[in-house]
Order: sequence, then C-alpha cells, then structure tokens
Amino acid sequence: MVNIIAIANHKGGVGKTTSTQNIGVALSRMGHKTLILDLDPQANLSDSFGYEDVEESIYDALTEKAKIPIHTITETLDLCPANLDLSVAEVELSGVTGREYVLKDIIDTIKDNYDYILIDCPPSLGLLTINALTASTEVYIPLDAQYFSMKGLDKLMYIINQIQKRLNKEIQVAGVFLTQFDNRVIVNRNVAEMIENYFPNKVFKTRIRKNIALVEAPIEDKDIFEYAPSSNGAVDYMKLSKEIDAAHRK
Ligand SMILES: Nc1ncnc2c1ncn2[C@@H]1O[C@H](COP(=O)(O)OP(=O)(O)OP(=O)(O)O)[C@@H](O)[C@H]1O
Ligand SMILES: [Mg+2]
Repeated sequence: MVNIIAIANHKGGVGKTTSTQNIGVALSRMGHKTLILDLDPQANLSDSFGYEDVEESIYDALTEKAKIPIHTITETLDLCPANLDLSVAEVELSGVTGREYVLKDIIDTIKDNYDYILIDCPPSLGLLTINALTASTEVYIPLDAQYFSMKGLDKLMYIINQIQKRLNKEIQVAGVFLTQFDNRVIVNRNVAEMIENYFPNKVFKTRIRKNIALVEAPIEDKDIFEYAPSSNGAVDYMKLSKEIDAAHRK
C-alpha cells in the first residue's frame, strides 16, 4: 500500500524542502518506487532537481488544465514539479466545491504506481497545505531546534486535528524530526527536550545535523547522496529514511 506523506510546518526555513528531497531520494535508493511532489509556489524542490521555471506544474493539474506532470529522475524516483503559477492556485481554488480534495483526487489517479509519495508543503497553513494534509496518510513535521519553533506548534496541531475530524480521518502525525541540529548549542539541546515532551514517542531518533553540504547540494542541482555521499547530511538523511521505512514495516 502506498504511503502518502506530507512534510509540513508553516514556519519557514525549517528544512521541509531539504528533507523532502533527501528522504525521497534515500527511499528510492532503497528500491522503493517514490514520487516527490512539489506543492510550494517557491518551487525550491523542483529547482533542487534542476527543474526551473517548468512550463507545466502541479498548478496545471490542480486547475484542470492538464494531467499531473511527472518527470522521471531515476528508475525508482519521479518528480512532479511546481512553478510560480502555483502562487495563484489558492485564490483560483477558493470558489471550487470540494476545494480541499482537489489534490487528493489527482493523487488517487497515480498513487498505485508508488510505494511512497512525499509532498513538500509551502510555509503556510493555507489551502495548498490543507490539500496536502487531506491527500496524505501521514504528516511529518521537521523542526529546527530553536525556541521559536515551539511557538506555532499549537496552531499546526489544531489544523491537523481539524483535518482529521472533518476531511481526512486517516491522517496522523507519524513523526517529528529535528533539523539543523548542533549538539554543542545549549538552546538546541533544550528545545530537543521540549519537543520530545510535546510529542511523546513521535520524535525520530535521528537528528539532522547542521551541515553546509546540505546548503551547497541543491545549488549544484544535486541531492546530498550524489553531492557529498560521506557528509553528515548524507549519513543523517539515510539514517532517518531507514527509521521511516522501518516504521512502515512494523
Ligand atoms: N541540516 C542543515 N544544515 C544546514 N543548512 C540546512 C540544513 N537543512 C536545511 N538547510 C538550509 O536551510 C535553508 C532552509 O531549508 P529548506 O529550504 O529546506 O527549508 P523549508 O522549510 O523548505 O523552507 P521554506 O519554508 O521557505 O519552504 C536552506 O538554505 C537549506 O539549504
Ligand atoms: Mg521549502
């Protein structure tokens, strides 16, 4: 059965895109047929794979102008890109009946081709993120280990609970992971403890360490395993992805 995972946090810059790319690539390298879907008008994820300013994006499928565009990256990895057009999708969809289910209906047409579908959400709790959460079986929340990370969590959990009640009974917070972590920084260690208390039994053991190679790789249109296979970033994302995969085989 396919696992559809939204990577969501309305806080900006917490590592949603970096995580979607590298967890997706890691799962595909383990042999799982994986689709990475860019649902952010910033299109950083698409850019990271070298798909810049694509003509057709998920926007065209959401607005029924075309079928979902899917590009083959490797034998086991596909990408559905975004572009700036997506920035008007929320306005265009706002008057549509069943507007929260538009992405789900699109994913339903292709989901049987995959073991994992990962959705990179924009940094907001608007209609795009709601569509992602309605279409997903699970949500993962990346958190940078800063005090401000704790601040918006009640709001995020409220939205997820509302979606669970009204739109998608299946969705659950399947995991939380720390990004940009530096064990030498006291704040990082304190916040990690606070997050573990806030989400008992939900925090993955693997913490993604701060690592400059993760910043450099997308500039070269590469994932971390291709760009710097022995970097901390590659080691951490492979470890996290193995934890994620193991959780699905229980
Ligand atoms: N572990 C890490 N170590 C160092 N830098 C990182 C790490 N993870 C991500 N970054 C960098 O931090 C910035 C934000 O990361 P990213 O774009 O993945 O976050 P995001 O949550 O997707 O942001 P947005 O909310 O804008 O979509 C990027 O420049 C990225 O390269
Ligand atoms: Mg992003």
